[in-house]
Amino acid sequence: MNRREILKAGVVTGAFAATGVSLNSCASETETVPADSISLEDIPVGGGVFVAEPPIVVTQPSEGEVVAFSSICPHQGCKVNQVLDNQIFCPCHGSIFSALDGSVIVGPATEGLSAVTFVLDGTKVSVG
Ligand code: FES
Repeated sequence: MNRREILKAGVVTGAFAATGVSLNSCASETETVPADSISLEDIPVGGGVFVAEPPIVVTQPSEGEVVAFSSICPHQGCKVNQVLDNQIFCPCHGSIFSALDGSVIVGPATEGLSAVTFVLDGTKVSVG
């Protein structure tokens, strides 16, 4: 590898690093919260919050509309880990699910996320 090729490699590495920062920033928009302390204000409209145990994602597709799903991807069992623009993302093989109804938008998953029942009491959401 000559000096020019090394410089090119450095630029590519920098681009990947910048992408990594961007992805991490996006990922941090999705919080993990205890199952007993979710309030409507915690859930971004178009986004969601994750409960670690039981593994659940709670989304707010539009102001005041709340839905909840298992966060276990039906493809091979990874946990979905990000909700942006009303889409839920699985990091393992790239499946994308609707945050409105859990249906598959992009595979390889062929089944949607399972709906989870919850109680909305005023602005407090109780799941599990
Ligand atoms: S486990 Fe989610 S896409 Fe494969």
